[in-house]
Amino acid sequence: MGTAVERFAGRVALVTGAASGIGKACTIRLLQEGARVYGADISPVAPAEFGEDRLRSLRLDVRDERAVQESIRTIVSETGRIDAVVNAAGIAGGGPVHLLEGSAWDRVLEVNLKGTFLVCKHALVHMLAQTPIDAERGALVNLASIEGLEGTAGGSAYNASKGGVVLLTKNIAIDYGRQGIRANAICPGFIETPMMEAVLGMPAMAGVREEIRREHKLRRFGRPEEIASVACFLLSADASFVSGQALAVDGGYLAGRDHHVTELMGL
Ligand SMILES: NC(=O)c1ccc[n+]([C@@H]2O[C@H](COP(=O)([O-])OP(=O)(O)OC[C@H]3O[C@@H](n4cnc5c(N)ncnc54)[C@H](O)[C@@H]3O)[C@@H](O)[C@H]2O)c1
Repeated sequence: MGTAVERFAGRVALVTGAASGIGKACTIRLLQEGARVYGADISPVAPAEFGEDRLRSLRLDVRDERAVQESIRTIVSETGRIDAVVNAAGIAGGGPVHLLEGSAWDRVLEVNLKGTFLVCKHALVHMLAQTPIDAERGALVNLASIEGLEGTAGGSAYNASKGGVVLLTKNIAIDYGRQGIRANAICPGFIETPMMEAVLGMPAMAGVREEIRREHKLRRFGRPEEIASVACFLLSADASFVSGQALAVDGGYLAGRDHHVTELMGL
């Protein structure tokens, strides 16, 4: 599907987690809107799959600071800029705290929180040094989660990592706003991606899956493109006065409790 709007013509974007799910959808949408995109992932990102010559793939483990620094240097040396960043690399993981191995905790925090920090850190170095376009030096979008805004049974490490991403993002918005850099977090509900299928796709989880689906007031899970459209809004000039937000994109999941009273009233 093409789009008539090219909000990112002449802009350079980095998307982590670009090989799958939400990161892949963000990459596609940024390309459709005219950006030159670097898709980074620990798994291969196949440019041919995107059918675009403005996509360059980078093999990157976001936990590796030197590799993150090198990747972002490559982007800036090839294009002269880095205007937009989407941090979508992430992994699931958790469990009741008394059963959780320290190594499992570390794995989740290292990818989801430290990885996001490292990519923001090295992108900011270059954003601070570049000439603003339309009064803006750059924009960052970090994928947190509804599970970074409230607790979930068994969530532990994952929720802690996503809560950390929310506050890291707000702090970046505070510290770099006067330099013309915006930072926002997206807190998706449950989105149909390989990550969600790995967690909720097990037969034993069928009942839980249905309960979670119903918790979304739209009574369905989200699609990766529905997160990508919001990420691109937040990165674009359409959101030029939006910074420091943790925006739930969740089909109404966090709107409040539904005790079905209105069903008794005929709705
Ligand atoms: N799917 C959901 O329901 C949902 C809900 C809320 C938040 N999120 C968040 O959105 C982001 C994207 O999730 P998704 O559902 O698209 O997952 P996904 O598993 O489909 O994609 C995640 C991608 O991150 C990559 N990745 C993992 N570890 C990496 C590392 N160390 N370095 C570089 N890349 C790495 C994977 O290879 C994969 O391509 C994640 O941060 C996730 O926590 C997802």
